Amino acid sequence: MSARPGFGSLPGSSGRVRRLFFALWPGPDAMDAASAAVRRLVPPGTGRPQRPDQLHLTLEFLGSVPEPRLVSVLEVGEAVAASATPFEIVLDRLEHWQRPQVLCLTASVVPEPLAALVLSLRSALADRGFEPEERAFRAHLTLARKVRLPPPAGPVEPQRWAAREYSLVESITGPEGSRYERLSTWPMRA
Ligand code: 2AM
Repeated sequence: MSARPGFGSLPGSSGRVRRLFFALWPGPDAMDAASAAVRRLVPPGTGRPQRPDQLHLTLEFLGSVPEPRLVSVLEVGEAVAASATPFEIVLDRLEHWQRPQVLCLTASVVPEPLAALVLSLRSALADRGFEPEERAFRAHLTLARKVRLPPPAGPVEPQRWAAREYSLVESITGPEGSRYERLSTWPMRA
């Protein structure tokens, strides 16, 4: 995706730009369950399966952020964690999103603390002058990318994920595609 309009081109912001997003990053149990889901639900030859150590659930995608603004994003992560409540999310549907060509697990019910967390991140980012996200939040765990011929969508064995922390993640583009690196992680403290 391109940067949000005006977001990566602030006056005087020449230099390094980082592609950032806030995400739930699975602990060992959720990661095992999620990588088992990749093996079970992504048929061989279907797009590019997500590597186990890259699985995540995006909370808020920021796009390209000029390096000097990274401090503000880290402040948002720290501030929002103080009022965020841990929760459990149940991923219970397989979906194919046509435009981004991703195969993902989605949650038919978005827990209230998760919706509140996303709203708090959006509002804290807006307070610091970041462009608002226009897309409605959709809780999803991408299992594979570049999927053109998906398996049938529908309900799957529910997968539970106890979320107690969230991370700021950098997407680094390389010859093999993107890889994700956590820059900072905050426990939800409320
Ligand atoms: P993901 O597959 O790694 O979660 C940029 O558009 C990125 O934002 C997408 O690659 C996707 O990343 C994530 N995304 C897309 N639509 C979204 C939505 N409605 N809510 C949250 N994240 C979304």
